[in-house]
Amino acid sequence: MAKVKGEISNNFCPQALYLYGNYEADGTPHFGLFSWLGWCWLGEGDGALGVMACIGEEKTTKDLIRKTGVLSVNLVSEALLPLADYYGTTPGRENPDKMKRLPTVEKGQVLPVPTIAESPVSLEMKVVEERPLSKARLGGEPGGASTLFLCEVVNVTIDQRLTDKTIPFMDRLRLAAPVISAGEETYMTPAGKFLGQWGHVAN
Ligand SMILES: Cc1cc2nc3c(=O)[nH]c(=O)nc-3n(C[C@H](O)[C@H](O)[C@H](O)COP(=O)(O)O)c2cc1C
Repeated sequence: MAKVKGEISNNFCPQALYLYGNYEADGTPHFGLFSWLGWCWLGEGDGALGVMACIGEEKTTKDLIRKTGVLSVNLVSEALLPLADYYGTTPGRENPDKMKRLPTVEKGQVLPVPTIAESPVSLEMKVVEERPLSKARLGGEPGGASTLFLCEVVNVTIDQRLTDKTIPFMDRLRLAAPVISAGEETYMTPAGKFLGQWGHVAN
């Protein structure tokens, strides 16, 4: 296998997709679509499961996370993809009626966050640290507005069928049907089936 110098990107590095949820001030649930999420362990030994969530430019999702200090993270399944694609391509700040389309919303069990009944796995998370990732901070041009939110997972709700360990894990994964993105703005299944381009699946 010959390797050549490539462009700086994360193409071919699969990421699952998640809908981040929060309540607006009037109690309306709000959702945005996100893929730059990484897992981490907080503390030592008996620490806690953590998440590193990177959010780019200023947007409604970031406004709400800063305001409430909490969020829900809902795994996107194939059935949720059209709605997720809409949430990912409709900026909340410019579209006050964005939430005219809603999934089945449930209340978080532990935190005041909206979770999505149709999502196979929903995490309730609280922010433990916010870190600006502007290029100025990294020694480049000022003006970058990317933000890293380090979060602790404090509760998980999961489709009951996925907890049945008499069923092989791979079969349960197929049941969960998560959507991933592995580069070049494509949606696909973990088995490699093409599901569409970003921005072209919303209906
Ligand atoms: C597949 C996909 C993945 C995305 N991942 C991220 C991400 O990780 N970070 C981010 O800041 N925006 C991401 N976006 C863009 C946001 O979904 C978009 O800014 C959206 O408007 C957020 O909703 P809001 O404006 O209501 O907050 C992604 C969009 C798509 C289509």
